[in-house]
Order: sequence, then structure tokens, then C-alpha cells
Amino acid sequence: MTVQTSPQTIGEWLEEAVAAFCARCVPEARVNAELIMAHILRTGRNEVRLNSQRRLTPIQSSLFQRLVGLRGRRIPLAYVLGCQPFMDLNIEVDDSVLIPRPETEELTLEAAELFTTRKQEALEILEIGTGSGCVSIALSRLLPNAVIEATDISPAALVLARKNAGICGRSPYIWFNEQDLFSPWPQKNIDLVISNPPYIPTPDLELLEAEVRKEPFLALDGGADGLAAIRAIIKEAPNVLKPTGALVLEIGSNQESAVKSLLAQRGFLKPLIRKDLQDRDRIVIAKMID
Ligand SMILES: C[S@@+](CC[C@H](N)C(=O)[O-])C[C@H]1O[C@@H](n2cnc3c(N)ncnc32)[C@H](O)[C@@H]1O
Repeated sequence: MTVQTSPQTIGEWLEEAVAAFCARCVPEARVNAELIMAHILRTGRNEVRLNSQRRLTPIQSSLFQRLVGLRGRRIPLAYVLGCQPFMDLNIEVDDSVLIPRPETEELTLEAAELFTTRKQEALEILEIGTGSGCVSIALSRLLPNAVIEATDISPAALVLARKNAGICGRSPYIWFNEQDLFSPWPQKNIDLVISNPPYIPTPDLELLEAEVRKEPFLALDGGADGLAAIRAIIKEAPNVLKPTGALVLEIGSNQESAVKSLLAQRGFLKPLIRKDLQDRDRIVIAKMID
């Protein structure tokens, strides 16, 4: 008779987690196991590998098992760990907000780039659909005197966004405001309207991988054709932008031509399209005058 002993060392716990993840088709099983281990030991993945013979304490073992259990249920790693890197920030996340994505870092950098010669000005920025607050917080660090209004319809997201702004020391520069983008926008005089809106067509939502379907549908669902929020933003933006202002949007990879025609209908000049890191057309920069 073989007696099954529970894992003791870091290496043994990792092997058990990798096997559990493989059984549940968790992508990148080993990376996920190592990142969870690194998180509970408050160290890096290299140290985890180098210390594979070290034993976990009972508290560490039970925390590791709990987090591995969550990840095994295909809860996204960022929700399991409670945070996600975004540019040089560590953004707290939970299941009330979209997990910040690398393409949104590009969106933020492209927007900041428009104002490289005006960095010290008290620019006025409006973000639509702030979620975790990652875009507004990162922009606020790149454009340190900007005054930012960051809106969302989700009160839970706004609570987390405010918390993240506090952690990153940007609270004095960002005003978080509960607002429905489909309601008429109050008159303003804005230099930059920026948004990563929900843009996935409703019928495509059920095709998303298990992890993405754990993110808020509110953050993903762009209506029947994926363009509902984008259409509303393009309709309202000219009413709040300064004549010299810019609208910067993240869009779905097959939405470029539809978005260009919506922009033309509202009097935006020929928009610039930027690619994401996978060479897909994902960022739109539009102005009313050159
Ligand atoms: C794609 S997520 C973007 C989150 C964050 N800005 C980011 O880039 O990671 C879209 C956000 O829009 C918000 N949203 C959805 N419908 C909205 C509405 N009608 N009015 C305002 N915000 C809305 C969602 O709650 C979500 O936080």
C-alpha cells in the first residue's frame, strides 16, 4: 500500500498545482503556479525556482492551496492575486473591473504623446469608463498638472478606482464621477476625451475564453454590433471638446472602418489609427481641427 503524503516543499507544491491546472485546462499552468507562489512568498518567480527545496509553513501552504483552487476554477490570475501591473503601476483589481490590458497601455501612451509640448499645462481630460482607474492614473503621472474627470456607471468600479488613485498618490488630480455615457453629457471645455469603452458585440461574449467571461459584462458588452458605446462617445465628444481638443479611443480590431465613418459624420478630420503590439488597428486619434 502506498501512503500519499501531502506536499512539503515549494517544488512539491508547485508540481501539485501544475497537475491540477493541467487537469482543468488552465493556460500556462507552470507560470500561473509560480506567480501564485511568488505572490504568497512576496518574492519573484526566480526566487521561487531557486528555493524549490524550501518548506512552506502551514499558513503559506493553506493560502497557496486556496489561491490555486480559485485559479483552477478559471478565475483570472489578476483577480486571484488582487492586482495587475499597468505601465509602472500596480493596479488593484477585483471582479467589478476589467483587468487592465497591454493595449490600453498603448492607448494611454498615445494620448499622452499628443501633449508632449504641453506637459506642464493644467490640461482638462475626460475619461469615459474608467474601471480600475488605470488609464486616468497613468495619464495623471505622465501629464502631472492635468485635471482629470474619470467617469463610470459602476459604483463598485469607482470605489476601486478611487482607492487606486489614492495608492498611486494621484487623488488630488482625478475626480471620479458616476455617470452613464448614454445620457447627454454636460457642457465642458476639454482638451482630451479618452476611452477604452466596452466594444465586444453581444453575440460574441459567449465565445470568449473562460477567464474573460469572469470579467464584468458591463465592461465588455458593446451591444449588438459592438459599437453602441463608441457611437455614443463619438456623438457626444464634439459637444465637450475644445476646438483644438482630441478624442482618443481603443476599438476592436475589426471596427476601424465603421469607427472612421462615425467620426466623419460628426465632423472629425481624417483620424490617425495606431496598431497594438500584435499589429492590429486598435487605437483611434481624432481631432476637429489640425
Ligand atoms: C473596457 S472597460 C475599461 C476599463 C478601464 N478604463 C480599462 O481600460 O481597463 C469599460 C468600462 O466602461 C464602463 N461602462 C459600461 N457601460 C457604461 C455606461 N453606460 N456609462 C459609463 N460607463 C460604462 C464599465 O463599467 C467599464 O468600467
